[in-house]
Amino acid sequence: MRWKTILVTGGCGFIGTNFIRFLLEKEGFDGKIVNVDVLTYAANPGNLEDLVERYPGQYFFHRVDICDSTALREIFEAYPIELVCHFAAESHVDRSIKNPRSFLETNVMGTFELLEMARRYNVARFHHVSTDEVYGSLGPSGAFSEESPYRPNSPYAASKAASDHLVRAYHKTYGLEVTISNCSNNYGPYQFPEKLVPLMILRGLNWEPLPVYGDGRHVRDWIHVEDHCEAIWLIVNEGKAGETYNVGARGEMENIELVGLICDILDEMVPPPRGKRRRDLITFVQDRPGHDRRYAIDATKITEELHWRPRRTLEEGLRETIRWYLENPQWVSQVQSGEYMRWIEEHYGGRR
Ligand code: NAD
Ligand code: TYD
Repeated sequence: MRWKTILVTGGCGFIGTNFIRFLLEKEGFDGKIVNVDVLTYAANPGNLEDLVERYPGQYFFHRVDICDSTALREIFEAYPIELVCHFAAESHVDRSIKNPRSFLETNVMGTFELLEMARRYNVARFHHVSTDEVYGSLGPSGAFSEESPYRPNSPYAASKAASDHLVRAYHKTYGLEVTISNCSNNYGPYQFPEKLVPLMILRGLNWEPLPVYGDGRHVRDWIHVEDHCEAIWLIVNEGKAGETYNVGARGEMENIELVGLICDILDEMVPPPRGKRRRDLITFVQDRPGHDRRYAIDATKITEELHWRPRRTLEEGLRETIRWYLENPQWVSQVQSGEYMRWIEEHYGGRR
């Protein structure tokens, strides 16, 4: 295997967790994975706890804030890191509207601190995990390509755009070998239930109202997280330094249609009492300020150059995901409980 030691940032979050599991469980990666995560509200260190025993000498976790250059330096001194896969971020648009500061701190300054370390410690490859939201909003037709102009509309998107530019600049200025992926909306196991898909699954299961913003006709382009992880692994192994790759699985759907589909699958898997159906829980609520109307990804570049293909359709992926949430009630109650916060405090000394 080409990489012996990989640094993953934000590995206790949704995509980072799936990426680490994908490497060890599916790819048979036999090197070391060092996961640094500060453990914000969105993290769950329990996601990967079993890996310490199952993959002795391969998986290591350190509670580190990527904005803390001293702590980061200790990591780079302790491990001979060859590849950085940078997932750590504040990631929820609604939170960025209420409190943009932490987005600037982590997404911009945190990325800067990591780039500085990568440069000083001669890291061979730095992969930056980014979003299609940097391109702004589309009209009814067309799709984002790697050439689309940056037009971020939310503080989250603006902070990710800034970090993309920094990564690119470190390539052009210092010759750091970087790659960037701009991916569409992910769904799948281990996603914190503030994002649309897990929120609707869990509220639907509990027969709670399903809040749909505005008229619900906003379009997102959905991809299963494992398809995204495969794309990232392909890019770090076969992608060209200095390049950006857009990742999307042709999973465009209006929010209202997606929520309806989740309701129907839930009704099928957990049949409702007679005369009830979960679609009736849908409630239109006030729209999000600056709400982007439509995202869609043109994935021609990664498809043609790296031969990447998503493995699931949106409906297949959703069924798989809903089954996962049904089969993991303990995970769900853990991330939703105060008990879990106390556990974090005991083990790791509180949250940020
Ligand atoms: P997430 O919010 O589930 O996880 C983020 C993780 O980063 C958490 O574990 C958190 O504790 C950690 N983190 C936050 N601030 C940190 C800091 N200062 N230092 C160290 N760790 C910190 O997010 P996610 O959905 O897994 O997204 C991961 C990455 O993928 C992000 O960069 C995001 O912008 C990008 N992305 C996400 C999506 C999506 O649909 N979720 C789509 C495209 C790109
Ligand atoms: P979200 O999962 O927050 O991802 P993003 O804002 O990064 O695309 O939201 C996905 C879409 O669902 C977005 O158009 C906003 C909408 N949405 C709702 O309608 N209701 C909700 O409760 C949430 C969380 C999102």
